[in-house]
Amino acid sequence: MNVELLIDSGLRACRNPAAAPAAEPYGSARAQVLSQAGFDAAEREIRQWPGYRATPLRRLPALARQLGVAAVLYKDEGARFALKSFKALGGAYAVYRLLEQAIMAHNGGQPVSVADVLAGRWRDVARQITVTCATDGNHGRSVAWGAQMFGCRCVIYIHATVSEGRRAAIARYGAEVVRVPGNYDDSVRHADSQAKANGWTVVSDTTYAGYRDIPIDVMHGYGVMSREVIADLGDTPPTHVFVQAGVGAFAASVAAAFWLAWGNRRPRLVVVEPIEADCHLRSAQAGAPVAVTGALDTIMAGLACGEVSPAAWEIVSGAARAFVALDDRYALDAVRLFANPQGGDPVIVSGETGAVGLAALLAAREHEALRTLLEIDAASRILLLGSEGDTDPDIYKSITGRSAAEVLA
Ligand SMILES: Cc1ncc(COP(=O)(O)O)c(C=O)c1O
Repeated sequence: MNVELLIDSGLRACRNPAAAPAAEPYGSARAQVLSQAGFDAAEREIRQWPGYRATPLRRLPALARQLGVAAVLYKDEGARFALKSFKALGGAYAVYRLLEQAIMAHNGGQPVSVADVLAGRWRDVARQITVTCATDGNHGRSVAWGAQMFGCRCVIYIHATVSEGRRAAIARYGAEVVRVPGNYDDSVRHADSQAKANGWTVVSDTTYAGYRDIPIDVMHGYGVMSREVIADLGDTPPTHVFVQAGVGAFAASVAAAFWLAWGNRRPRLVVVEPIEADCHLRSAQAGAPVAVTGALDTIMAGLACGEVSPAAWEIVSGAARAFVALDDRYALDAVRLFANPQGGDPVIVSGETGAVGLAALLAAREHEALRTLLEIDAASRILLLGSEGDTDPDIYKSITGRSAAEVLA
């Protein structure tokens, strides 16, 4: 049943006509993309990185009361390493994996320890490798951070509308940052062609024809976040998880980790994206990936992607229960509400991309038809994934009128 709900020019939603029934097992086809073993390996490595600590899962009881649901939970990735987003887990892990393989090849196949790599034991091998990618900010920051931490070279491509603050944050980790014309998808193609010309390795968060192993490492790295949620909630899964999507790698990782852990009790996956870059919603309706072109102009910088990642789509296309596309107004309201909570809930610093789950929930409060479509009722326990904090402090201040430190004071 493909019910599209067109609420106004800034809000659209649809059920996923291809949603897998709750009882469907995760299955071997999906495990070819993301697997329990892949999540286990990433968790083992990342837990050993300096500064690793699980991010908080915040309870928002006052908000739950206002929304007429049983619980709202918020996984706060603003506290993820120094990078303030879950993205720290993916790009940097993929950089580690490719160095690990290069070192093993150099060392007759002997296993490599992350402690040795961090201590610089393989510095000469690492220095010969250059990693590159396109980014709208957070992924490039993770790749640059990983390259600096593990000792290889790094060149990052950003597109026309990536903010100066985001550029500077990547450069801080020692990467060469190059701005190229066009949108995010154009910069992905540019990074790929530069890598081919120079003998570099692309560490992308999105897959494309002939390229999927490294982005799969990225998605397994993201799984650390979901594993922390699973450890926290144990045998009480939420009924819904709202996940924001750019290329869909994050959504795929969350969907796979929860499906593997909770089986037929997994939460309903609601995929939320900007209306200007609603490639998931359109692809679901078409039954196959559909590209959205143009400037993809949205304040939700991390989600300004017009093309789904094909490997991620192999999971999201069946795992999602519904898709919501909304405009910036909803995201801005959500950032401000987190900064000014009512009824005693904790103050949360969430960037424009991080607050998208709450944005969809606020839209469902305004529009009963959306609430019904998302199957939200008084018993719902809703998990929001706060995928970033103030990753661009200037933009954050322009939205809330205060810096993160002032908001938290
Ligand atoms: C903070 C944040 N949240 C969510 C996403 C979406 O991730 P994906 O592109 O894998 O869908 C991004 C992507 O850059 C991001 O930066």
